[in-house]
Amino acid sequence: MVTPGDGRNDSKDTCADTCAVAAGCDFGFGALCVRIALLHGEKADLCDQLEAIADSLPNCVDRWTCLDVAERLEALFRLAHRFEEDVLFPAFVEGGQRAARLATIDRLKLEHVHDESAAAEIAEELQRIGNGGAISNPEALGFMLRAFFDTVRRHMAFEREHMFPPEWMQPVR
Ligand SMILES: [Fe+2]
Repeated sequence: MVTPGDGRNDSKDTCADTCAVAAGCDFGFGALCVRIALLHGEKADLCDQLEAIADSLPNCVDRWTCLDVAERLEALFRLAHRFEEDVLFPAFVEGGQRAARLATIDRLKLEHVHDESAAAEIAEELQRIGNGGAISNPEALGFMLRAFFDTVRRHMAFEREHMFPPEWMQPVR
């Protein structure tokens, strides 16, 4: 059984028969799935912070958390999405079932566009709140945050389910 490690010992040879993205492990930086899992972990951390903010509404919003999340949100999602689109998705297509996988990737890319747009909107609002701005409509803010992190968690779960080696399939959280 292959277990998640730091990626240095996970080679294409250990799981090429079962991994949908083993073709991406030839870049000299360790197993592709491990690198994606690290990015997913960072996105999951941000989702947890957004959930904590949503749970604290309508009172007690931690303004420092708002500023911290606002600063990291857009850059992390941009970085993760570019890496997935430039490295992960091509490896996924190379792994077989080309037509079906291209259709899957089209959908995932659309979700990336939507998520980046939502991340920008949320970052702007959290920046404003973190700098002392009033929360005029807590219900709307909570809805916006929950819609975002629910969608992101579903997106990551789909990628894990379809692109990670089944031997070490595990939730990010
Ligand atoms: Fe993605």
